[in-house]
Amino acid sequence: MLGCGVVGTGILELLKKNAQTIEARLGVPIDVTRIAVKDASRARESVVPGSLLTTDPRGVVDAEDVDVVVEVMGGVDAAGELLMAALENGKHVVTANKALIAERGDSLIALAEERGVDLYFEAAVAGGIPIIRVLREALASDRVVALRGIVNGTSNYILSRMYREGLGFAEALKGAQEAGYAEADPTLDVSGGDACHKLAILATLAWGVRVRPDQIATEGIDQIDAVDMMFAERFGYVIKPLAVARETESGDLDLRVHPALVEKGSVLASITGALNAVYLEGAMLGPCLLSGPGAGALPTAMSVVSDIVDVARNTIAKAHARVPSRSVLSAQMRVRDVQDIGANRCRFYLRFSVHDQPGVLARIAGVLGAFDVSIEQMVQEGRGGDDEVVTVVMLTHDAREKDLKDALREIDRLSPIASPTVAVRIES
Ligand code: NDP
Ligand code: HSE
Repeated sequence: MLGCGVVGTGILELLKKNAQTIEARLGVPIDVTRIAVKDASRARESVVPGSLLTTDPRGVVDAEDVDVVVEVMGGVDAAGELLMAALENGKHVVTANKALIAERGDSLIALAEERGVDLYFEAAVAGGIPIIRVLREALASDRVVALRGIVNGTSNYILSRMYREGLGFAEALKGAQEAGYAEADPTLDVSGGDACHKLAILATLAWGVRVRPDQIATEGIDQIDAVDMMFAERFGYVIKPLAVARETESGDLDLRVHPALVEKGSVLASITGALNAVYLEGAMLGPCLLSGPGAGALPTAMSVVSDIVDVARNTIAKAHARVPSRSVLSAQMRVRDVQDIGANRCRFYLRFSVHDQPGVLARIAGVLGAFDVSIEQMVQEGRGGDDEVVTVVMLTHDAREKDLKDALREIDRLSPIASPTVAVRIES
């Protein structure tokens, strides 16, 4: 093992508690022989055998007695170099590292194929939900049309606690960190970066295309205020951290990560806390929902160890690399255009902070109309009068995103506008 933090410790606990179950399914036991960490002197849970700890990760990937290298240390550069060395040495690799697979998956998979070894990464997307297996194996006969998901547990946990318990952002984030859901650098969670990595992996598996994270329009939940949740509720919505991938009418891919208003009665609205969900639509299958724990030690460890069991089964059957890592054969991988976010059409939630002067609403509505954005509903909150700042919330009809943004740029320059307008997409 490379790393023994939240997930690594969970793997050791699961291997201990489920040893009999696993051996009954596999016929052989799984032995952990070496564990690389950064600081071997750090206090650890009793399930971690101190005698196996080393601060020499390279020694682990080079060791003759290691069949499978399990990477749960995180980060891209060091982990990437170690896994390239492991594959070069003919070791099978299991990783939970979405940043690494999204950024360097191409070269790692190419090397694994060249060496005829397995490279598995079920835990990299949606923790304990077996979404990679579903896309790679269960849907091997179908074509994915669209998928919409909540794939960052930390963001969902933060928004859920802000909404249900009125917690502040910082306090909710602290809770996610204490529960072991957040990345070592939680900016990755709240900025949408982690979900972006996961969506790149999902889109690659769903369509057999190379998707770079920088092709995905990404916004985090850090722009969402408790007041937006309150207004969303008044209109019958909740705010969720979404990842969306779908084929457009022209055949491009629409790939986006952003918070969005979803209807209170919808399936994604009911996914709360650190739960994740992927709601996908197969051309033949139709709609299908997968949901479950998206982060945390044991659910993630479960996915990692199931990958190890798969590798061991392949070893016993002498059938390594039987299933292509990205669901399609590498020679069949394609490049597909990604739709510019400006071309996206949806309804929008808009929150304006305005000095309550006569005619201000007409000026806002006028600019929106000039850019072909039409208003569906509106509320104003605040006492008004004496040029006080009040909140005006509008829901728009379907609008083109570029038009909406151009309109807001102009509106935010109007003198009665007190602070930049907040715009959140409404996903149907
Ligand atoms: P932690 O920060 O809890 O653990 C990281 C571990 O890696 C620690 O044991 C640390 O050592 C070790 N480590 C870090 N750098 C090095 C290095 N250069 N050499 C040797 N060891 C090193 O992270 P998590 O367990 O939460 O996450 C691990 C991976 O799993 C990440 O890629 C994450 O994205 C992914 N993941 C995490 C989930 C979760 O719910 N936490 C869910 C799904 C995926 P030391 O203990 O000495 O500090
Ligand atoms: N930090 C990640 C999350 C861990 O919160 O979803 C699971 O990938």
